[in-house]
Amino acid sequence: MPENDILKIEHLRYVYNPGMPDEVAALDDVSFTVREGEFIGVIGATGSGKSTLIAHFNGLNKPTSGRVLVDGRDMWAPGADLRSFRFLVGLVMQYPEYQLFEETCAADIAYGPRNMGLPETEVQERVKEAAAFAGLDESLLKRSPFELSGGQKRRVAIAGVMAMRPRVLVLDEPAAGLDPEGRDTILSQIRDYHRKTGTTVVLVSHSMEDIAKYADRVLVLDKAKVAMFDTVPAVFARAPELLALGLSVPQITQIFLKLKEMGLTIDTDVYTVPYAVKTIQKALAAKRAAGAAGEGGGADAP
Ligand SMILES: Nc1ncnc2c1ncn2[C@@H]1O[C@H](COP(=O)(O)OP(=O)(O)OP(=O)(O)O)[C@@H](O)[C@H]1O
Ligand SMILES: [Mg+2]
Repeated sequence: MPENDILKIEHLRYVYNPGMPDEVAALDDVSFTVREGEFIGVIGATGSGKSTLIAHFNGLNKPTSGRVLVDGRDMWAPGADLRSFRFLVGLVMQYPEYQLFEETCAADIAYGPRNMGLPETEVQERVKEAAAFAGLDESLLKRSPFELSGGQKRRVAIAGVMAMRPRVLVLDEPAAGLDPEGRDTILSQIRDYHRKTGTTVVLVSHSMEDIAKYADRVLVLDKAKVAMFDTVPAVFARAPELLALGLSVPQITQIFLKLKEMGLTIDTDVYTVPYAVKTIQKALAAKRAAGAAGEGGGADAP
């Protein structure tokens, strides 16, 4: 993994409707850094500022104060070319299928790369590549996006951003509204894309299960501020705090919290089933060892 910081957010503050009675600070002193090639999950309760934050990454939102640096360059520095940042950071908004408008899926996917002024042969090559990454069959490309299912439309929209070959792909709830199978497919496609291309991915999700499964590090937002930013195991080890922030933790983590509550000596930083198995084995081994020691002198007594 390259060592450069692809995204650096410094003391970012963003206020909606400044000076009005309904003024609201949606982001307050937010700072963090993403290294190139990372897969970052962003979670937080409704209204915590997730969508407001990611809209800063490609310049859709302009900071009220603070800085947004992409690949070391301040996006809002005097004389900076905002357009170049829009190509560096690809943003897939919530329900992106509502933004499809071309006559064919191929034309919709081609829209971004064409806008970049690329030669037509390269545009076509990128359309094919992006369609494959998004799991779209080539036979669908000639069809109108409006003839497709909801899940397929969503893939077309995602492919349209992938076709720009951004250095950072940012997705706001890409699995929202899909059935469990549709969720898993789309998210594992994004993971494969991340693995194959090395593109940095920032994924906003309400689902702790999804974040646990796919992300390297997790940014937890709470009421416009960063509550945590750490690796998946480190964040899930703080499950009680997550619950206090109104976030759910994976079901498997909840079981372990319950076991601990019931008096078992057991680690609770468990967020996947294989790790759960290991943790139970470890706890059993520790119990056996304690039991063996206990036979000699009642080590279990308080
Ligand atoms: N266009 C807007 N005008 C005024 N306030 C807004 C606007 N968009 C968002 N807000 C407010 O900013 C705060 C953060 O909203 P944001 O949409 O970024 O949260 P979120 O974490 O994405 O929520 P959700 O999980 O529901 O998508 C909320 O208090 C919200 O009411
Ligand atoms: Mg949102």
